[in-house]
Amino acid sequence: MQKELQKLGVEAKAAIEQAADLAKLEKVDVEYFGRKDGKLNNLLKQLKDLSVEEKKTIGPMANALKAELSELFNAKKQEFERAAITQAVETEKIDVTLPGRACPAGSLSPLSTVQYELEDIFRSLGFMVLDGPELESDYYNFEALNIPPHHPARDTQDTFYVKGTLRQAQGDKGKKREKLLLRTHTSPVQVRAMQKYGVPLRAVAPGRVFRYEALDASHDNNFNQLEGLMVDENISIANLIAVMKTLLRGIFKKDVKVRLRPGYFPFVEPGFELDIHCLICGGKGCSVCKQSGWVELLPCGMVHPNVLRAGGADPQKYSGFAFGLGLTRLVMMRYGIDDIRLLNSGDLRFLKQF
Ligand code: DAH
Repeated sequence: MQKELQKLGVEAKAAIEQAADLAKLEKVDVEYFGRKDGKLNNLLKQLKDLSVEEKKTIGPMANALKAELSELFNAKKQEFERAAITQAVETEKIDVTLPGRACPAGSLSPLSTVQYELEDIFRSLGFMVLDGPELESDYYNFEALNIPPHHPARDTQDTFYVKGTLRQAQGDKGKKREKLLLRTHTSPVQVRAMQKYGVPLRAVAPGRVFRYEALDASHDNNFNQLEGLMVDENISIANLIAVMKTLLRGIFKKDVKVRLRPGYFPFVEPGFELDIHCLICGGKGCSVCKQSGWVELLPCGMVHPNVLRAGGADPQKYSGFAFGLGLTRLVMMRYGIDDIRLLNSGDLRFLKQF
């Protein structure tokens, strides 16, 4: 047994020494030190059959050999591992002067770009920028805006109704249980704003609106508007025109001639269509303005007393103007986009141009 141990020791040492790489060393590990069928273990298993005397001498010998071999083995293993790291460091050089990997940057949708620009203009005029719910109640979308049930004006704004009735969001002053719909315009924010902030008030509310439309190049079932409202004592049409001219100067970077034509909307009295002098032909007449010299830009008017009342303002004391700017339309005019459907298409070939 003693001899066998010695022989195994010599053999194993040689095997460890001669292992040329980590893989070979691992083979040696299995062959000699493997738990199941390793040569050393097999030999040690025989220890139990020895006499007590023999155990006393051979036991410590065997343990010493085991310790010696394992030390040798670990040293060799570390040697290989260190060499591997050194090699990796040497071959995998990092060139810190190389340009970084470009990370494709997204960009704002043209709708957002124009919206933010308008918000800036209005903020500079002391307007708040407000948000309103897209899932709106029948009350705010129609009734509070002087459009009672069965009013024919509802026909022009057919929309998507949501089944069932839900409790209105907290803070709403309308009826507690309401029919819900996808808002057809941003005008409901007028009443919400007056209720929340009181009057006098200056606010704009950009946002998405929804209509039941037959889709074509100029009609989509969801598009963006920017609502405006100014309420105070002694507000007149002159204020409306002044603010609109300031707005247009901000958008087109030059003075733009405007005119008001009568227009009907239940929530304003009087109501107007605001036209701008055609910027393409300078008013001489062209295909864009259909030879009229004028382009229809936005509907507006003086806030109807019933709407002021719905907002909690006294129409005897306060008056105001409101307007509904077609944000989507303005974006299309500005960038020469000839199909409204492109804006919500998510088509990168389109979006990457902005
Ligand atoms: N809400 C109307 C629509 O979407 C547009 C509008 C007209 C808004 C007149 C106004 C306004 O504020 O005064 O058709």
